[in-house]
Amino acid sequence: MPKNLRQIIEEADKKGVAIGHFNISDIAALKAIFEAARELGVPVVIGVSEGEREFIDIHEAVALVKGLREEYDYPIYLNADHTYSLEKVKEAVGAGVDSVIFDGAKLSLAENIAKTKEVVEYVKGEAKKQGRDILVEAELGYIGTSSKILKEIPEGAATKKEDFTKPEEASQFVKETGIDLLAPAVGSIHGMLGMGLDPDLDIELIAEIRKACGIPLVLHGGSGLKDEEFVKAAQNGMAIIHINTEIRKAWREGIEASLRNNPEEIAPYKLLPGAVDAVRAVVANRLKLFSGL
Ligand code: G3H
Ligand code: ZN
Repeated sequence: MPKNLRQIIEEADKKGVAIGHFNISDIAALKAIFEAARELGVPVVIGVSEGEREFIDIHEAVALVKGLREEYDYPIYLNADHTYSLEKVKEAVGAGVDSVIFDGAKLSLAENIAKTKEVVEYVKGEAKKQGRDILVEAELGYIGTSSKILKEIPEGAATKKEDFTKPEEASQFVKETGIDLLAPAVGSIHGMLGMGLDPDLDIELIAEIRKACGIPLVLHGGSGLKDEEFVKAAQNGMAIIHINTEIRKAWREGIEASLRNNPEEIAPYKLLPGAVDAVRAVVANRLKLFSGL
């Protein structure tokens, strides 16, 4: 049996490396991510946001990821990414996810604490009933919402030091909610302006928040950051790094190339490898940086 997600995160945190978290909407992206992780021999987390779960049902996602974990005895895990209500948290936890993110980033600090606390109490109770560990992550600081190609920084996203997550707030938030993982706002944004063009991270702040809050951190909005930012983020406390927009872009470009190169082809299994190859290349590149390979 592979280790559970908590153990894998603790190991990454100690080593100063990060686990890759990649979002999927379909089996082609899942195949690509799993192949890239296996080739490099590193653990991996698959994410499905509320939007992605509208297409790939949470029960299907659990069956696929759990199936791979058991069949290949491999450390691959499923996270219910960006979940905005207790109702959706319940659905994901009932389906069997390994972790869930409650996203109250747009709420006031007091409201975010109250709602996150409610989620933590529910999930921990349910984990006990189900006899397994289920992690809860929460968001503190708003960094935009969509994994798409951006023309400009999303409105309201924290891009200046004064708007980033404060170490004291992070510490209070963790103490009062009992979460396992914290996603602070430290410079990255959801979506991307262009490869290497997104704003830089505040690496010093990452280290300060990690120290102040005492739990592993998660970096959201990884797409578009410069390569060296990933390495420094992992070394300073980010134990998981999320990538989505780069995968979506690769998936689309891969499919487009397949269709262009095979204008008469109608068999999905002959067309989808285009998307698999493109996504696998992105994931392998990011995993090498995250794991210091
Ligand atoms: O939760 C998903 C991520 O934070 C993805 O962000 O689309 O900027 O890579 P990204
Ligand atoms: Zn995110």
